[in-house]
Amino acid sequence: MSPERPHRPLRAAVVGAGGIARSSHLPALRTLAEEGETEVVAVVDVDDTAVRAFADAFQIPYASTDLEAMLAEVRPDLVVLCTPPAVHREQSVAALRAGAWVWCEKPPCPSLADYDAVEASEKGGDGDPYASIVFQHRFGSGARHVRRLLREGAFGRPLVAHCQTTWYRDTAYYAVPWRGRWATEGGGPAMGHGIHQTDLLLDLMGPWAEVRGMAARLVHDV
Ligand SMILES: NC(=O)c1ccc[n+]([C@@H]2O[C@H](COP(=O)([O-])OP(=O)(O)OC[C@H]3O[C@@H](n4cnc5c(N)ncnc54)[C@H](O)[C@@H]3O)[C@@H](O)[C@H]2O)c1
Repeated sequence: MSPERPHRPLRAAVVGAGGIARSSHLPALRTLAEEGETEVVAVVDVDDTAVRAFADAFQIPYASTDLEAMLAEVRPDLVVLCTPPAVHREQSVAALRAGAWVWCEKPPCPSLADYDAVEASEKGGDGDPYASIVFQHRFGSGARHVRRLLREGAFGRPLVAHCQTTWYRDTAYYAVPWRGRWATEGGGPAMGHGIHQTDLLLDLMGPWAEVRGMAARLVHDV
């Protein structure tokens, strides 16, 4: 039996009122709201000024600096995590324990042990909430094309795949306090950017057998 479809509109709460929430998630949630799929019911950020400005800009009825209080008072169906990576674990666990689905920005968490803790908070039954991670590169037209060619056998039996993530970001990008630090991002550009293509390769090629790494700091003070 297929799981029951969650009721609509899904009552969504956004946690982290920064760049990606403003530029991507709110526009997407609003488009879905027009289709009757979602309703943005709350926003949370540790920065009181930021959360109030965000709530005003997007006419969100509930704004708070306290995630636990929001979960208890608003009881959202879906929690969209747009916060720095080091807090994804605790916030995903809190949301799942409160019975909400989690839609979390990449990277999932700084360590596998962190992600195990998130998985352990999912009940695992049909229709029970779970955490998903934003890896939008899986769904681009190029990735879809390669996936189709792989499926059709156009490459024969692929033995090696090679990807490079040579994305430039300026100094201001890395000046955000949590970026490019082990404690708050779990690393630097490999974790922030390379993870998109690492995820895409895993999705296209299947699990890896061996990983080797090399890191150097060339330009930015990360
Ligand atoms: N999918 C993508 O292509 C993409 C692009 C950019 C960013 N991201 C990811 O989105 C996440 C956020 O990035 P951003 O660029 O929006 O960062 P940002 O710094 O602009 O925003 C983060 C917000 O989270 C708030 N915050 C920090 N700790 C918090 C806590 N404990 N509880 C509540 N709020 C807290 C900050 O005050 C800030 O407003 C990161 O994981 C990043 O990797 C993904």
